[in-house]
Amino acid sequence: MKEQLNGIKIKAEQELAAVAGLKELEDLRVNYLGKKGELTSVLRGMGGLSAEERPIIGQLANEVRNLLEASIEQAKTELINKEREARLKAEVIDVTMPGKIQGMGRRHPLSMVLNQIKDVFIGLGYEIAEGPDVELDYYNFEALNIPKDHPARDVQDTFYIKDNILLRTQTSPVQIRVMENKKPPIKIICPGRVYRSDAVDATHSPIFHQVEGLVIDRGVTMGDLVGTLQLFAKSIFGEDTKIRLRPHHFPFTEPSAEVDISCWTCGGKGCRVCKNEGWIEILGAGMVHPKVLEACGIDSEVYSGFAFGLGVERVTMGKFYIDDLRLLFENDLRFLKQF
Ligand code: DAH
Repeated sequence: MKEQLNGIKIKAEQELAAVAGLKELEDLRVNYLGKKGELTSVLRGMGGLSAEERPIIGQLANEVRNLLEASIEQAKTELINKEREARLKAEVIDVTMPGKIQGMGRRHPLSMVLNQIKDVFIGLGYEIAEGPDVELDYYNFEALNIPKDHPARDVQDTFYIKDNILLRTQTSPVQIRVMENKKPPIKIICPGRVYRSDAVDATHSPIFHQVEGLVIDRGVTMGDLVGTLQLFAKSIFGEDTKIRLRPHHFPFTEPSAEVDISCWTCGGKGCRVCKNEGWIEILGAGMVHPKVLEACGIDSEVYSGFAFGLGVERVTMGKFYIDDLRLLFENDLRFLKQF
């Protein structure tokens, strides 16, 4: 019986070394340790042993069983780890390809447009700056010349983490962060996600994207702003695109303007898309307010600059004739496959 037990041990270990899956391992366990298993039948046969032999064989049988159980348990852990690793490997997303829709080789329309916008400004020598989504009240409002109780806060209601910490309502706070840390000349765009407590409908979403632009140097004028925006509009919407500035108020720029572009559908004649206006508003802009420059330690007697902020969803919807903002966030493949 001793030989039989040793034989079982050696055979089981050989088989164990060749096991490749959990199912196979369980079969092996049943074959040896199960009710009708090889080791179990040997143990059952111990009744016929003499009184001297029984404890010796019994001890050996227990040792073989314990050894087998431990080896099977260890093999099981190894197999589970191996399978988990393989699964994780298969689930890997290539983060060096932002915006690529997995398995489609395409980009999300918002990423496509954002990349085009970035290309235009990088081509003009702008750098890209980023700031946090969770922002201090100071950067999102105060430093942009929007004190507490200023009515401009009403139209940009947001989600508050604490009294003075909130989800940024605009990318303009990145202007402040950059100006605090860098002396002019400054030439940046800041793409990013922004938040407002707006109900979802065809043209509103509590989360959307903006690209902020900021240029500060000696002798920067409104003419530079207009030229830059003209070039931007033509690059994104085509050579025939015109822009129009309407006087407006933003607390952080003076003078300020809302900027329209000639309708991408009718070219300015008037149609359903532009509500017969011939123009569509796409961004806000202006000359940086001296108070904002001074708050960042930049001498407004020496330096001047312009800033603008545009909505990426608005531009994307225009470029691709998308009439419902929600389509951009629902990520229905039937929609995404069209790009
Ligand atoms: N932050 C403004 C908004 O969200 C957009 C904007 C307007 C940004 C004028 C600017 C600017 O930098 O100069 O409504």
